[in-house]
Amino acid sequence: MKTYRIASIPGDGIGIEVIAEGEKVLRELARKDGGFALEFTPFDWGSERFLKRGAYMPEAPLEILKKFDAIFFGAVGSPDVPDHISLWGLRLPICQGFDQYANVRPARVLPGITSPLTKGNEIDWVIIRENTEGEYSGSGGRVHKGLPDEVATETSVFTRKGVERIHRFAFELAKKRPRRHLTLVTKSNAQRHGMVLWDEVFYEVAKNYPDVRTDRQLVDAVTTSMTLKPSTLDTIVASNLHADILSDLAAALSGSLGIAPTANLNPERTFPSMFEPIHGSAFDITGKGIANPIATFWTASMMLEHLGEAKAAARMMSAIEKVTARKVFTPDLGGTARTGDVTAAVAAAL
Ligand code: IPM
Ligand code: MG
Repeated sequence: MKTYRIASIPGDGIGIEVIAEGEKVLRELARKDGGFALEFTPFDWGSERFLKRGAYMPEAPLEILKKFDAIFFGAVGSPDVPDHISLWGLRLPICQGFDQYANVRPARVLPGITSPLTKGNEIDWVIIRENTEGEYSGSGGRVHKGLPDEVATETSVFTRKGVERIHRFAFELAKKRPRRHLTLVTKSNAQRHGMVLWDEVFYEVAKNYPDVRTDRQLVDAVTTSMTLKPSTLDTIVASNLHADILSDLAAALSGSLGIAPTANLNPERTFPSMFEPIHGSAFDITGKGIANPIATFWTASMMLEHLGEAKAAARMMSAIEKVTARKVFTPDLGGTARTGDVTAAVAAAL
């Protein structure tokens, strides 16, 4: 029997709560499936560690993580640490260091859930986010700190290689979806260097995919398409920051940020990929037992898919959908269920 070794990094806030639930449900699923096992190794890498010991991770963290088949990640962020420190202390070094360049963010209105849009049921999107460069490259600096002449730069970096591989990934994914439609999100009208390269390379790659229909929308305009004409979109490829913003909109339009999953993929499988709910540490509801574990369960399904357990992944999704159809909802979805109630319902539905 195949045993997958999973590194669990619950991190901060509700990340700690939902990863525990995710492990429970995954264990239950593996037991019922009978064809594979999961071995979780926990890591206490998070803001508490940082505050006590001055670092989010030990030295050479990637050497440690590289032995695992996948990383199951909760959230990072604490009211006691500036966000840019926590993010660059834990999550981004893993995404960049493991070349997890394809960030996949599906959005769908699950059964029983009401979208704030009247046409909400037409939402069936996958946003593909470039995940290692662009606006999040980390390139830039500050000079004359604290002086009146202080200057800060934040340089977006678009490399031909980085742009090409994310577009290729997006076309491959779009090709496998029923509608075979890929929307290029851009801002090349105003951002005349990086975004122009972004567009050019998209159309070069498109030549290899004559069966995928494409269109091109400016990032501001696509927000209106998402809201007013959701059915006109299918697969969407966008830069790191653009997709960050669009994916929150997508999550809200699908009913709640509490259900939105994501996969940080290293498609070549040179390094492990990382799977996480999008919602973040949510300190306002930490410790209350009301965090929605659905995003983590959906994330777990994506992890199983990546590991090659497609049958188990589908089983997880259908259990989730049975539970949402019965409206076992935490408060973010308008219900009164607690985290543990949703977990129990999903485990039973498996
Ligand atoms: C996300 C999050 C992160 C991001 C935050 C926590 C920095 O919003 O995964 O979408 O912007 O990448
Ligand atoms: Mg975000």
